Amino acid sequence: MSVFENVKEGKTVDIQSLNIAYDEDPFENKVNLCTRSYRTERGESWVLPVVRQAEKALLNEPETVECLSVFGLEKFYNAATKLLLGGDSQALYEKRVLSLQTLSGSCSLRLSAELLVQKMGCKIFYVSSPAWENHILVFKSAGFEDFRRYRYWNANTRRLNFEGMLEDLENAPAGSVIVLQPFAHNPTGCDPTHEQWAKITDVLLSRKLIPVLDCAYHGMISGEIEKDLWPVRYLISRRLELFWCNTFTKCFGLYNERVGLLTCIVKTPEVIPRLKFQLNLFIRAAYSNPPLHGARIVAHILTTPQLFQEWKDCLKKMSFRILEMRTNFRNALERYESPGKWEHITLQNGMSCYTGLTEQQCMNLICQYHIYLQKSGRINITCLNFSNIEYVVKCINETVAKIPY
Ligand SMILES: Cc1ncc(COP(=O)(O)O)c(C=O)c1O
Repeated sequence: MSVFENVKEGKTVDIQSLNIAYDEDPFENKVNLCTRSYRTERGESWVLPVVRQAEKALLNEPETVECLSVFGLEKFYNAATKLLLGGDSQALYEKRVLSLQTLSGSCSLRLSAELLVQKMGCKIFYVSSPAWENHILVFKSAGFEDFRRYRYWNANTRRLNFEGMLEDLENAPAGSVIVLQPFAHNPTGCDPTHEQWAKITDVLLSRKLIPVLDCAYHGMISGEIEKDLWPVRYLISRRLELFWCNTFTKCFGLYNERVGLLTCIVKTPEVIPRLKFQLNLFIRAAYSNPPLHGARIVAHILTTPQLFQEWKDCLKKMSFRILEMRTNFRNALERYESPGKWEHITLQNGMSCYTGLTEQQCMNLICQYHIYLQKSGRINITCLNFSNIEYVVKCINETVAKIPY
């Protein structure tokens, strides 16, 4: 009998199994609408030219194999914090900010969750319904047992269910942890308006809730970092204490370098040494220190004016393509007069597009037409391009005609 005998089998995550099924599908015109990375018009993942330039420049810098500190590369976390908060940030001026480099966004979330449940006595966490599924896994793995959802998507209107969301937050017990995506919500693409954020903030403050902000698609809505980050800066301006998890995976196209930033915004600077002490222990116990390569690239780009400008141009390019494909997708569906309403496609933000298709319709697209998409109806909008969009829309049209909502 093997020592591994008791290890149980389980189901792989939807998106992983879909990508495997797609790879194994011999059908010539198959389409994968659920890649994790941004795709170009040619269907390729994009190495940002500015990243290549930074890598070349870094080749001429002295090399080191010395271990980074547990908190990562100082040049990176300082530059990234300044970028995200803005150089004139009041919180920075008041020294109420702790930032550290993490193993990408997932690890920022994990560190936040560990601190919250193991050192701050938090018991309940809330995620949106639907959520980026990893939120649940990360928080449970850190030790949270009480997991709840706040309403987010209204399947009838195919918009944000703001009233439901607010009501659920109002009913959350004080001290609950609320995972929020400030922009480009994954999976729904629905974001609250500025006015709605003001109301959400009122509730967070009055109910004494603890926000964990998860940002994964900086600059990929408007092409401008400052614009997209408005909700975060707003929450901070209202003097909320919060955890802010950032991944630079998408906005720098550094999918395998695991560049993330965890920022804690606190009320008084005195708590920062204690936070650092506890985070240090978590990191030492898990991975000792984060990797250098990706952080060096990001730091170099952010601190070199010409490269910084080129990176901002890349964000514009990506956000433009996202908008363009949303418009084309909606227009094509309306041209076919596909049953249903499609304006939500262009009202949503970011790479995640929640089509509103039912699980049965999605299964039909996969099984009959070799079009791979998540059963929730979520697609990565950049997986659409001028070569596949007609086929995809034609198949959606046939599917919704055959299988009603
Ligand atoms: C909502 C959301 N949060 C966090 C992440 C973090 O991912 P990573 O750990 O790959 O940086 C992602 C990536 O897809 C995401 O969509």
